[in-house]
Amino acid sequence: MTESRGQWSGKLGFILAATGSAIGLGNLWKFPYITHENNGGAFVLVYIACIVLVGGPIMMAEILIGRKTQLSPVGAFRVMSLGKPGGKLWQGVGFLGVLAGFTILSYYSVVAGWTIHYTWLALSGQLAELATNPEVLGTYFGSEFLADGTQQVSYHVLFMCLTIGAVFFGVKGGIERVAKVLMPILFAILIGLVIYSSQTSGFGEALRFLFQPDFSTLTKGAVLEALGHAFFTLSLGMGAMLTYGSYIGRDISVPRAAMQISLLDTLIALMACVIMFSIINTSDIEVAKSATILFTTIPTVLIKLPGADILNAVFYLLIGFAALTSTISLLEVVSSYAIDELGWSRRRATLTMGSVITVFGVLNALSLGGNDALTSINLIGRESTAGVFGTMDYLASNWFLPVGGFLIAIFTGWLLSPKLTRTELEDGHGLMKSFTGWLFLIRFLAPLAVGAIIVSVILGKEYQ
Ligand code: PFF
Repeated sequence: MTESRGQWSGKLGFILAATGSAIGLGNLWKFPYITHENNGGAFVLVYIACIVLVGGPIMMAEILIGRKTQLSPVGAFRVMSLGKPGGKLWQGVGFLGVLAGFTILSYYSVVAGWTIHYTWLALSGQLAELATNPEVLGTYFGSEFLADGTQQVSYHVLFMCLTIGAVFFGVKGGIERVAKVLMPILFAILIGLVIYSSQTSGFGEALRFLFQPDFSTLTKGAVLEALGHAFFTLSLGMGAMLTYGSYIGRDISVPRAAMQISLLDTLIALMACVIMFSIINTSDIEVAKSATILFTTIPTVLIKLPGADILNAVFYLLIGFAALTSTISLLEVVSSYAIDELGWSRRRATLTMGSVITVFGVLNALSLGGNDALTSINLIGRESTAGVFGTMDYLASNWFLPVGGFLIAIFTGWLLSPKLTRTELEDGHGLMKSFTGWLFLIRFLAPLAVGAIIVSVILGKEYQ
């Protein structure tokens, strides 16, 4: 193993880093928003089913391949596909992952940069002034902030610098260290905010909305949306979990790790919903039916609560932390390709790849703003929206991740021998309760379900 590759210091480091990759804007922004749009309860149940039946098994497949090969996605598929039908063509799955990492990072860091701005707005007292009226804040966000190219580019570059800084120092010295500091803070802030929201009058209604299913409101589109989101939120389909899994040894159980990561990710997404719906229910403000709820509606509610400035600052800091541990994993997928396949040193790989993505991301940062800004932003959106930002988002979430996930399921389920996968999953830890169950899910249910997303995209059917 080359020095540039690295290894986690232990199980905790891996779990925190992988959970950090999974928990991000997808949990704290997108999930509450789509849960709201899809009427809560039944949607939440379907989402949990997607995590358990499709996401979990695919995560096991990714970690398994990473741990077995100790390589990043391109090399991992090349090695594993030796002598199999299709042979080296399977490397394409790895390349698709690198492309997805590049694409997602280039716009994800633009949105992540907004959290720095909002933290600053809150701390300087400006947010309190802007947020007195949802319309004023909406106009500020859409027509001033998003349309201000200098600010958009600056925050994007700043966030990319933080990301590059962490990946630069390696698996243990950078990625793991950041995760070990940020993740406990993130959990603590979230628990604090849940306790806070449990004191608000909207708490009970939020719980009912989330956990009382009404299946009559569930649509086919909602099921596909839940499935697509399960992929994004667990960082699946692009080799991020495979890459992180390539830095673990055989002392770590693949099924147990996949279970812990999925459980924490789901828990945090639900906590985010409880917090946001409680504070929204507490006020009489109409929720904007748009993905910008986090940057337009929430502050207008938060400023009515005691300790508003601090509360807002802590809230956006939390989202920034969650986003950072995700952007780190996106850059790691791209950098580890250069390290493993091109033989670059980690520093060279991180700086070069990070800079190229930063420059490309400027196009995303500058494609926002204007009159339709608020409607054109739909992170992880299912519609092709105008502009570079919308196109990148559309390509990644509708094509790269589902196609990658589909191929990973087919490869692991059908091309790798059950003997090998069984050994990798059972592995003396005695935790794999039902290998046959996993094999069924990865062979049949996962490809069918993910295939349905791809077919619906091909047929041009929107999810919502
Ligand atoms: N899982 C992250 C989120 O929910 O925000 C996004 C993400 C990170 C997707 C890393 C893919 C990835 F490789």
